[in-house]
Amino acid sequence: MNRRQAVLAAIDDIERSLLQLGRIGWRGFDCSEGGLAIIDSWMLVPRGSINGTFETLEVIRGDLGDCRRCKLASGRKNIVFGAGSSRARLVFVGEGPGYDEDLQGQPFVGAAGQLLTKIIQAIGLSRESVYICNIIKCRPPGNRNPQPDEIDACSPFLKRQLKAIAPDFICALGSFAAQTLLQTTAPISRLRGRLYDCMGAKLLPTYHPAYLLRNPEQKRAVWEDMKLLMKAMELPLPEPQGDKS
Ligand code: URA
Repeated sequence: MNRRQAVLAAIDDIERSLLQLGRIGWRGFDCSEGGLAIIDSWMLVPRGSINGTFETLEVIRGDLGDCRRCKLASGRKNIVFGAGSSRARLVFVGEGPGYDEDLQGQPFVGAAGQLLTKIIQAIGLSRESVYICNIIKCRPPGNRNPQPDEIDACSPFLKRQLKAIAPDFICALGSFAAQTLLQTTAPISRLRGRLYDCMGAKLLPTYHPAYLLRNPEQKRAVWEDMKLLMKAMELPLPEPQGDKS
């Protein structure tokens, strides 16, 4: 049991004990519905605060402000900070916003985003239950690759986001996300297919959905990666498809 699970279990124990004591008539504790609701709300603290940091995503977004820390600021329409649950067990990290994301200010809403949504649903989760963000928060001109100075300027914010959410699992989509988070230059084809330790979480590198759109034959490899993730997250695996002929 990790620290977060231990804290949540302790809160659960306190609530159940008070409920029990209230039922058998003990006095001196606040066993009222209102009191128990307050204890319930302790569970809603950001996961990061249980791990000793007290930053919220709102504070980090506030610090980012109308960011001018790198040259991408001049060409962007919107900063794409991230979207999803601040209490997610699983965070997907992509490369950087594309045309649609820049326009809408939301991550993974274009064609690659639609494929990512299908992948998330295929593992039994929803976009709302996970968190989705990128290595860089502004669109590079013409969707070129992020440059080292842009990654250096932006990645402290990503690291703060990951600390605040404190997910148990991170899925790095594509080589930029995997290489940045794992501090390596190894190619994604060599990195994928296993879990790594990263910021207190287990990190799974896999191919980027935009790469899958261009190379659909690699979907099988991503599905193998997703099954590994589902097993580690203890999510129900789909029934193997038998020969129905
Ligand atoms: N590709 C990414 O890496 N991130 C997005 O948000 C969209 C496309």
